[in-house]
Amino acid sequence: MRQQTQMELIRELLAHHAAGTTQLADDVLALPAEVYIGQGHWRAEQEALFRRRPVVACLSGAVAMPGDYVSLTAGGVPVVVVRGDDGVLRGFRNVCRHRASSVVSGCGSGAASLRCPFHAWTYRLDGSLLARPQAGEGFAGTDESDLGLVPVAVGEACGLVFVRAEGDEPIDASRLVGDAAVDLGDFGVGGYVPFDRWESSWPCNWKLLVDTFLESYHVFSLHRATVGRYYLSQPMTYKGYGPNLRFQTCQKSILELAEVPEDEWDLLSRATVEYLIAPNTILSHSVDHFAVYQFLPTAVDHTDVIMTLYTPEPVTDCTRPHYERTLELHQRVGAGEDFPQAVKIQQSLDSGLVTETLVGRHEVALVHFHRALDELLDDKSWRIRERQNP
Ligand code: FES
Ligand SMILES: [Fe+2]
Repeated sequence: MRQQTQMELIRELLAHHAAGTTQLADDVLALPAEVYIGQGHWRAEQEALFRRRPVVACLSGAVAMPGDYVSLTAGGVPVVVVRGDDGVLRGFRNVCRHRASSVVSGCGSGAASLRCPFHAWTYRLDGSLLARPQAGEGFAGTDESDLGLVPVAVGEACGLVFVRAEGDEPIDASRLVGDAAVDLGDFGVGGYVPFDRWESSWPCNWKLLVDTFLESYHVFSLHRATVGRYYLSQPMTYKGYGPNLRFQTCQKSILELAEVPEDEWDLLSRATVEYLIAPNTILSHSVDHFAVYQFLPTAVDHTDVIMTLYTPEPVTDCTRPHYERTLELHQRVGAGEDFPQAVKIQQSLDSGLVTETLVGRHEVALVHFHRALDELLDDKSWRIRERQNP
């Protein structure tokens, strides 16, 4: 993030703090419970946001070398992105052509081929079928050349890899990153390398988990025993980039800068800066790492979360204990404090007696997120499909 931007953000924050104000949206947003629990709404999201629109698969550093791969689901479709021997990044449905098991799980590096664990059908990195061990005459009459992994579109820009489960048209990754590209370029996101990955599952709608990242209003209360000791709840300021956005949570120490000459100001050592890349990925930068959270809906009330910790340099024996503690802190705060709130909200909404939740005017980034999703869903294609297939 450039110095100029950091200075502007700090100036804005100090001014709000001095005046006892914060950035405000025009209105309080009343979110119908339907947004979180409606089956029809969820199906529309799956189609419009997760299948027909690309989602972030990973940062480029996770698939930098031939044989590196990352798997995930996009709108419920298992997909994998893999760097070929020829250096080309490709995407496939992570669905074995034998009996449709997942060919790979999680992520990996340096693979010579992709091998399904069920009956060992093996695919080259370009997706073509390489071998069917011990199949004998079992598949006589089938054409190996027709049984490669099914390709899906991939695209890469600003250190982000995108994948899309449906549709043949190429992905315009730069357009998807939009104006967030300036900051992400300054961070050198493309140079970050994966350290470790934490996968978890939560019995709640995916947006309830994302919501916990987009306001710091709760920090003084929910996180009072952990990060709340060091971070401010307010003021909250954000910047929208189309459906994407930037939001930062500042350490209390940032207030000391009011007494420090501006040319000595530094935001990044005193704030966690988050980028939401719509619809479901958060890149959270703190001091010396990016935590990339991907929220993958598996049902209207169930979500898989992949968190990958990326570091600017490969982790060494020296830095490993520090990054292990960093990952542990993310787990403690996420799994121990934030995500259980999302589950409790889901339980309230599932009672059927709650008709809406309220997003305050000061929860500006949250307001932007839900309005942006609404606009992305307001796409004729899914409405027509919905009408045809009620
Ligand atoms: S399902 Fe993959 S080898 Fe049988
Ligand atoms: Fe939180």
